[in-house]
Amino acid sequence: MNLLLLGGGGREHALAWKLRQSPLVTSLLAAPGNPGIEALADCVPVDITDAAAIVELARARKVDLVVVGPEAPLVAGVGDALRAAGFEVFGPDAAGARIEGSKAFAKEIMQAAGVPTARFELFTDLEAAAKRALAWGPVVVKADGLAAGKGVVVASSGEEAAQACRALGALPSGQTILLEEVLTGPELSVMALCDGERFVLLAPSQDHKRVFDGDRGPNTGGMGAYAPANFLSEAELERVGREVMAPTLAELRRRGISFRGALYAGLMLTPAGPRVLEFNARLGDPETQVLMMQLDTDLVPVLQACARGELRTTSLPQRSGFSVGIVLAAEGYPDAPRTGDELEVPASLPPHTQLFHAGTRRLGASVVTSGGRVLTACAHGTTLAEARARAAALADSITWRGRHYRKDIAAGAPPQDRP
Ligand code: AMP
Ligand code: GLY
Repeated sequence: MNLLLLGGGGREHALAWKLRQSPLVTSLLAAPGNPGIEALADCVPVDITDAAAIVELARARKVDLVVVGPEAPLVAGVGDALRAAGFEVFGPDAAGARIEGSKAFAKEIMQAAGVPTARFELFTDLEAAAKRALAWGPVVVKADGLAAGKGVVVASSGEEAAQACRALGALPSGQTILLEEVLTGPELSVMALCDGERFVLLAPSQDHKRVFDGDRGPNTGGMGAYAPANFLSEAELERVGREVMAPTLAELRRRGISFRGALYAGLMLTPAGPRVLEFNARLGDPETQVLMMQLDTDLVPVLQACARGELRTTSLPQRSGFSVGIVLAAEGYPDAPRTGDELEVPASLPPHTQLFHAGTRRLGASVVTSGGRVLTACAHGTTLAEARARAAALADSITWRGRHYRKDIAAGAPPQDRP
C-alpha cells in the first residue's frame, strides 16, 4: 500500500522508520519530511496545513492511508478534508483535535466523562481570574489555547498567580483562563491508538519538559524520554485505559466525534491515583521516538484499522528492555534557537542506536540546524542504565556550534522494579 506521512519532526522520522519496516508498505511519501526521513521516504515540500494541497497530493500519488504526525494539520481540518475526499486517515477531525487545542474543551469533556483530573475554574474575565487566584494561593494558571508550552504557570503564591493571570491574559491564547489545583507526583505519558470507539494502549513513557538538568529552566516541547515508564504498573495502565481513554472516547462519540487517531494523556501519578493534566490529539514528541524502538509489531495494520474504525487489536507486543531518547537542541532553544549551524555526525552509528532528525535541513553537501530541537539520539538496552549509557554516547558523538542536551534523561526514573 501507499502511505503518506505528514510532518517533519523527530516523531515523524521515528514513525517513518517504523512504517518502512512493514511488508505491507510499497511506497512511503512524506510531507514535508526532513533530511533523516529522506533515506526512508519520498519527501514532498508542501504546506501540510493546506488541506486542498494535501488532498491533491494524496490523489495524485494514489495514497491508501494518511498518517498525521503534528497537531497543526489536525486543528486546520486536514483530516476532515481527506476523509471527505474518501481517504483513510490516522488522525482525528478538527472537532476531535480541539481536545488539544482548547484546555477548556478538554476539561469540559473530562468533567462530562468523569475522567480524574485537577479541580478547576474557568474565567473569561481576567480581573475576576486574578482576584480568585489571589484568594486561591498556590494554583496552576493556564491559558486556554495552544501556546507552544508557554501557556502554563505553576504559581507558588496568590500574588504570583494573579500576576500570571495578567501575563497569560495578554497572549492570543489567553482569552479564557483556567485556574487549577496544584497536583504532585511523577508525570508520565500514556497514548492510545483509537478507532473512534475502541483503542489500544502504547507503553507508558516519560518525557522531560524543562530545558536543563534537574528539571530547571523553561518548559520545552520535550528534551528526552524513555519507555517503558513502568513505575506505572500493568494494573494502573489498565486503569488509565478504563478510567481515562474509554470514557473520553465515549463522551466524544456522544457529541458526534469519532476520534480516529492518537489520544495522548499527560498524567500525574498522584497519591490518589492517576490524574489527567492535558490531552493531545497526536503522538508525543520525543516519546514516539522511544515508543517506536520498543514496539515489536507491525504498526501499519493497527493504524489502518484505527482509520477504518475496525480496531480489533487489544495489546501491542513490546520488546523487552528499555529505550532512551535524548534531544539535541540548538543554542538558544527554547527562547530563540539559532539556526544554520553545520552538524558533525559520525559516518556510522553504534549498535542498538537510532538517530532521528527534527530541526535539520540540507545545505549543499552538508546538513545544518533549522529548528530548536534538532535531533533525538536514541538507544535500546536490556536495562534502563544500559539504554541511557548508549544514548548518551551517541549524543556526545554529535556536535555543532552551541548544541546542548540534558545529561539526566531517565536518570531520576522512579524504581523500575515495581510489580
Ligand atoms: P500542560 O500543558 O497542561 O500539560 O502543563 C504543562 C506542565 O505544567 C505539566 O507538564 C506539569 O508539569 C505542569 N502542570 C500542569 N498542570 C498541573 C497541575 N494541576 N499541578 C501541577 N503541575 C501542573
Ligand atoms: N512531549 C510532549 C508532547 O508531545 O506534547
